[in-house]
Amino acid sequence: MSDSDPQRADFVVVANRLPVQQSMSQGNEEWRPSPGGLVSALTSVLQSRNGLWIGWLGVSEHGDPPRTYEGIRLKAVDISSEEYENFYLGFSNATLWPLYHDAIRAPTFHRTWWQTYEEVNMRYATAAAEAVAPNGTVWIHDYQLQLVPNMLRELRPDVQIGFFLHIPFPPSELFMQLPWRREIISGLLGSDLIGFQVPHVASNFSRIARRLLGATGTDSILHYDGRIIRVGAFPITVDTAQIISMASDPKIRLRAREIRRDLGNPEVMLLGVDRLDYTKGIQQRLKAVTELYADGSLSGDKHVMVQVAVPSRESDAHYDLERHSLEQVVSEMNGDHSLVGSPVLHYLHQNLPFDELLALYLAADIMLVTPFRDGMNLVAKEYVTCRTDQTGKLVLSEFAGAAAELRGAFMVNPHDLEGIKEAIRLAMKAGPKEAKARMSRMRRKTLRRNVYDWAQSFLAALQQGSQDRTPTETHDASPSPSG
Ligand code: F6P
Repeated sequence: MSDSDPQRADFVVVANRLPVQQSMSQGNEEWRPSPGGLVSALTSVLQSRNGLWIGWLGVSEHGDPPRTYEGIRLKAVDISSEEYENFYLGFSNATLWPLYHDAIRAPTFHRTWWQTYEEVNMRYATAAAEAVAPNGTVWIHDYQLQLVPNMLRELRPDVQIGFFLHIPFPPSELFMQLPWRREIISGLLGSDLIGFQVPHVASNFSRIARRLLGATGTDSILHYDGRIIRVGAFPITVDTAQIISMASDPKIRLRAREIRRDLGNPEVMLLGVDRLDYTKGIQQRLKAVTELYADGSLSGDKHVMVQVAVPSRESDAHYDLERHSLEQVVSEMNGDHSLVGSPVLHYLHQNLPFDELLALYLAADIMLVTPFRDGMNLVAKEYVTCRTDQTGKLVLSEFAGAAAELRGAFMVNPHDLEGIKEAIRLAMKAGPKEAKARMSRMRRKTLRRNVYDWAQSFLAALQQGSQDRTPTETHDASPSPSG
């Protein structure tokens, strides 16, 4: 493509995955939109800006991928099966993922994984450099692609580069373990704007950038290599309007009533919905609920729990192990406390459609979201958003990014079994008046912004940064919409 090539896009999104994925329908392979708010948020921005999305199709061998999705051009990055092992399962999900989530599992460091991470990042950077129009904008997403900003800057110094990290960024004590720590920070510093989910995580990054690479400036404006890099918190959220409209659909409300009936119309229905990931604290939560059955706080004829564990990263040994030990806890809980015909725990290791999840959210009395560490946790926000009648209680980990906003939740330290039990007891005891006050507090906060505002606020800060850019700038101006 030449510089004046009309095929070049003014706005390019680079993410590990494309917004479509291959699935089987009646024996045929078909392409469907990937689930999640990110796709819908970015779709409208891309549509309005002659946009293009660069990413991986999620399979090493694939048929002909679609060239467009909802009018957005797609550009697939190929990843071989060896790169899938080293880049995706290896460096992304066995080095960075555990390291960035409090080292809940020991991160593994392999030089060959790192080498492939560099190579694959360069492939994404080259694809972006080829695709973006002169002076265009590139928005890079997440931990799999932290080297892309600087690689792209070297290839295309004319473009504006934004980066958003969807997961936590660790404190220095953990990050310093990484043998390639300088390279990662220098990769990210190729951006004009680096966004994180919450302010203290943004500060972790800026402190490390000053300490490791000698960047100067404040937590929100760094000076490095003759450039200005803005750093801020942009807490992601859900498509609130879509969730509210789906939650008032009579079919979904009827399904919620059916679910309760099928569960035997319990007095209290507890619910957990998570990707099956060792960071989500599912086992600890189920152990807490089991102990509540054992001590008589819950009883098999009145209380029932549903736990949805969405299959994820199944070819990774850590995830396989987590599934097996979780299922051991599930079977102990049911074995010890169920009655004939009414298990105390309904465990679904399935990827349920979003309308079924919404029906579960509407059916539940108490939602348990207790990750050991989570960038944001959109399940908590989805639950709160769909409870339009202000009912329902939320037990929430203080280590989820969402905890900063959902102050009306019953907060827990997810490592503290007694604390989780006490929070569930308190949630059960809370009367309708308290529950309503808590839920409306959370809804007021959540409904203030939707995922489109999130995307717009990031892009506006990126744009603003490039307008204000002067090498002598010294004032501190946090781009964070959350303050
Ligand atoms: O939360 C980070 C994230 O990468 C999400 O973007 C994604 O939906 C989830 O983890 C699962 O990731 P994967 O692409 O590995 O299936």
